[in-house]
Amino acid sequence: MLARRSMSRVTDEAPTREQLLAAIAAAGRVADHSSMRPWRLIELRGDDRERLGRAIHKAEHKRGRSTKPLRAPLLIAVVASVRKSGKVPDWEQEAVASGVAHMLSLALDEQGWGVFWRTGEYTRSKAVAKAHKLAKNERLLGWLYVGGKPVRERETRRKTIDPESFLSAMPR
Ligand SMILES: Cc1cc2nc3c(=O)[nH]c(=O)nc-3n(C[C@H](O)[C@H](O)[C@H](O)COP(=O)(O)O)c2cc1C
Repeated sequence: MLARRSMSRVTDEAPTREQLLAAIAAAGRVADHSSMRPWRLIELRGDDRERLGRAIHKAEHKRGRSTKPLRAPLLIAVVASVRKSGKVPDWEQEAVASGVAHMLSLALDEQGWGVFWRTGEYTRSKAVAKAHKLAKNERLLGWLYVGGKPVRERETRRKTIDPESFLSAMPR
């Protein structure tokens, strides 16, 4: 976990479906109040990315299509599927879906893939929701852009945080 870093540039190599399924199985171990499984993932490869590009431009009131989704060979849309519950509020269910995205990023990084979680102002637009055929109770949390790790990696590394400054005692 200390070694994980996001890769904004990746190569055209991508995980196979089998590798992806193994990483998803690991991510599915996320803590989940009442085991509601309030999430699902959508795999975008090839032309799917162009359809997303068109939806992004539609959301931005532009013609044609955005080339942003072409930055990686595989995009994984992370969807929070919030279910009605008297016990588990919406925010807890979104926290589970977010946890899945983080754990999936880690699992793919561990498999040797480059991953970058991206969003944009268009993430929760109608056009983008329609392109993913989201139901009324579903909200996108963005996309994991996944591809091969470049041989010469020039990303600057974020400093490891000072854990002391993130931990305090309970105020009295
Ligand atoms: C929900 C979420 C959405 C993000 N969206 C973007 C984005 O659209 N563009 C971007 O440059 N970074 C975005 N980031 C941040 C990057 O994924 C990444 O964490 C950041 O560049 C720091 O790199 P590091 O993870 O190696 O420390 C997002 C992160 C999260 C958790």
